[in-house]
Amino acid sequence: MGATRSEESQARVGEGERQEALTRTHTCGELRPEHAGQRVVLMGWVHRRRDLGPLTFLDLRDRYGITQIVCDAQWAPEAHAVAKQVRHEYVLAVIGTVMRRAPETVNPKIATGEIEVVAERVLILNPSKTPPFPVEDERGSLPSEDVRLRYRYLDLRRSRLQRNLILRHRAALTARQYFDRHGFLEIETPMLIKSTPEGARDFIVPSRLHPGKFYALPQSPQLFKQLLMVAGFDRYFQIVRCFRDEDLRADRQPEFTQIDVEMSFATPEMIFALIEPLIEEMCRLVGREIVRPFPRLPFVEAIERYGTDKPDVRFGMELVDLSPWLHDVEFAPYRRALEDGGVIKGIAVTGGAKYSRKQLDELAEIARREGLSGLTWVKLGDGEVASALVKALGAARVEALARATGADRGDLVLIAAGPRTVVNEALGLLRTEIARREGWADGTQFRFVWITDFPMFKWDPDAHRWSAVHHPFTSPRDEDVDRLETDPASVRAKAYDLVLNGVEIGGGSIRIYRRDLQQRVFRVIGLDEEEARRKFGFLLDAFEYGAPPHGGIALGFDRLIMLLAGETSIREVIAFPKTASATDLMLECPSDVSPEQLDELGLILKPKRGE
Ligand code: AMO
Repeated sequence: MGATRSEESQARVGEGERQEALTRTHTCGELRPEHAGQRVVLMGWVHRRRDLGPLTFLDLRDRYGITQIVCDAQWAPEAHAVAKQVRHEYVLAVIGTVMRRAPETVNPKIATGEIEVVAERVLILNPSKTPPFPVEDERGSLPSEDVRLRYRYLDLRRSRLQRNLILRHRAALTARQYFDRHGFLEIETPMLIKSTPEGARDFIVPSRLHPGKFYALPQSPQLFKQLLMVAGFDRYFQIVRCFRDEDLRADRQPEFTQIDVEMSFATPEMIFALIEPLIEEMCRLVGREIVRPFPRLPFVEAIERYGTDKPDVRFGMELVDLSPWLHDVEFAPYRRALEDGGVIKGIAVTGGAKYSRKQLDELAEIARREGLSGLTWVKLGDGEVASALVKALGAARVEALARATGADRGDLVLIAAGPRTVVNEALGLLRTEIARREGWADGTQFRFVWITDFPMFKWDPDAHRWSAVHHPFTSPRDEDVDRLETDPASVRAKAYDLVLNGVEIGGGSIRIYRRDLQQRVFRVIGLDEEEARRKFGFLLDAFEYGAPPHGGIALGFDRLIMLLAGETSIREVIAFPKTASATDLMLECPSDVSPEQLDELGLILKPKRGE
């Protein structure tokens, strides 16, 4: 009977020299010409093997780099024999001597490319099955994400993911050191808390000791950090996991990490002045210098100019209101839009006059999906103006209209008419989509912007009530407080978001710190006294024991690292992420629990639909 794989590798460890006795002397990224002549012990994974008859070359890899190992049949026949049978991803220990490579065999692509290690002994510490995908595919192609996530421990051997997680570590360290230098304390807050009114997105945890009762996992430590201010810890931060059971996208995970910050006696200016240098330090980790201070853009202006409160300001193509130009025009869709109180807005697409019919149809389709009835275009070609509008307005007027958006010869203008929010959203989306297709969203540029003056409330048509745009603990602007009950739509909040390249990487506000104002805001969002007391009695009580004015922010750590690393999904910067449908393919969860567990928790499951 043949020996099992582990018996084989055990045997190869040899007499007297058990693997535990061997000590790694260097990493696979460390050796340089000055180490020539040294006897070393390397340990790592077989990245590649090349068999040249009497010589076998192994690329040994660990997270520090790759070192070439040479096994010579004549000089070290045993080592050569072992090397001949190893496969990708075997774990080896190699004892050998560092040699300078001959000039013509130097590999300038790797840091250890000037040396190689001539093996004296090669020990198999553990063999490996053939991996389901090559750990480092030379052509750079990736297996499907499902496969990558199922074998995440193999995927994480890729240099790209290793680099991302190292960056993540450095950024967390930078943040901790930064806040420590500025007198902030990292204080942990509980993970088992109480479900809140926005609780629809809470993950809930059943309690064994209190059958039928539940904890919730925190969506953020918001209330705890406020209570820490009441407690007098005037400068708090925490790098903290948050949980939200919401629909996922490339930049959303059900559990994610925030850099959570709170400060007593704070103004928005103090928060901006605290966060900007931290972001600057983090950008330096990837060799980027950024411009400070970050520009500020009031919410309403962001919506009007970019169609979104997360504007990507790396490119222009701003939305321009063309309504004043068109109020007397006999073009049915425009007339209707204006009569119904809507707007007509346009964007100029540089070089877009060359767009084909098919490209224009695709853009119109996007607009339709966003709720627009149509999209008109104007092509400012060389010497001619092409547009369905020419008939109604005449070429000269159409050209003047197009130029009002900033368009020039060779450009395209897209014009949308309809309700203000629909037009803004649709043109905002077209703007980013065109920039994506044209490659104008240059990933090497970091453009930050603070969005300020958010509205305090938005109308929730499904629930038939006002809801808080940020959260109900955000303070309204002093000059708007009087209109809380009479005109909630006009009340602005002391809230701000930080946006980088069109991604919201942080949000925060100055908070309410008085019981009466907090109760008024609760009332506006439909929480009556009794419910407010039941849900937030502890906070309302705390406000009556000397709560200082305070405010803060939370940065989305995963999103920030994603952008710093040049990735387009936060899954690439999280060691063990969930899929877009919130499952863990490696653990195969969420999963069933046993009837005994349910029984102990006092839970009975309803039959699943269709059973
Ligand atoms: P907010 O809800 O805006 O504010 O969250 C702060 C930042 O966290 C990031 N973020 C997410 N990242 C990944 N996956 C998610 N599902 C996800 N949800 C949010 C975003 C966002 O800007 N307590 C307040 C902060 C405060 O007022 O101080 C809060 O949580 O980058």
